[in-house]
Amino acid sequence: MAVVTFANSKGGSGKTTSALILACELAEHASVCLIDADPRRPLTTWAKLPGKPERLTVVTNASEKTILDEIDAARADNQFVIVDLEGTASRLTSYAISQSDMVVIPMKEQQQDALAAIDVIQELKRDMKAVRRTIPFAVLFTQTKVVAKSRTARFVSNQFKANDATPVFATEIHERDAYSALFSVGGGLRRLSGRDVNNLEAAIRNAADFAAEVVTMLRANGANQKRVA
Ligand SMILES: Nc1ncnc2c1ncn2[C@@H]1O[C@H](COP(=O)(O)OP(=O)(O)OP(=O)(O)O)[C@@H](O)[C@H]1O
Ligand SMILES: [Mg+2]
Repeated sequence: MAVVTFANSKGGSGKTTSALILACELAEHASVCLIDADPRRPLTTWAKLPGKPERLTVVTNASEKTILDEIDAARADNQFVIVDLEGTASRLTSYAISQSDMVVIPMKEQQQDALAAIDVIQELKRDMKAVRRTIPFAVLFTQTKVVAKSRTARFVSNQFKANDATPVFATEIHERDAYSALFSVGGGLRRLSGRDVNNLEAAIRNAADFAAEVVTMLRANGANQKRVA
């Protein structure tokens, strides 16, 4: 019943990867519908590979005209609905955001991405005004280095963390082999073999931490109270 949308008009910010990591992790214990609203259909392609978790359904968005109905239908049948949006601002983006209990804004720790994220947050605030509702959101740093972060990366993330008006996930999605492998191998992290990717255990822990933080935020915001309690 909780709708979580991944939005950032900056291409390559990690929306699709982070949405898939979250969906697979939640599907360990709950019914999840992942709506693929990226015109290149990366999640629809992933779903055709073997190993999709049983409790995870992937719906391919047809157009901006159908997104509201698709979210409604998914919400009726699933505990979590996760929407992966395209890398451009559009009416479809605003429609999906209007139905969301939380918006995740993935971004890399780079200056251009920081500027793009600020634009996205302003756009999101206009969407909130249009629907006369506060929609909780948080920035998710993605593709971060586990060790030896650059000075720019530290500077960018510190700027966001120091700004109380912009919530930031404590969990970062690190840059990991295991995460990009999902799109070629199929299935979730727990189906990968430690022989094929480096540091699988750390990738699984990272994904679990992210999912736990999303659930905590949803609870704090009062969404999905009965289902996730
Ligand atoms: N945490 C990660 N670890 C390793 N590779 C990653 C990670 N996140 C993203 N990538 C890689 O970076 C590229 C862009 O990621 P992704 O497709 O998730 O971004 P996106 O925001 O959905 O892009 P678009 O705007 O084009 O839809 C992909 O090749 C993906 O495999
Ligand atoms: Mg994408």
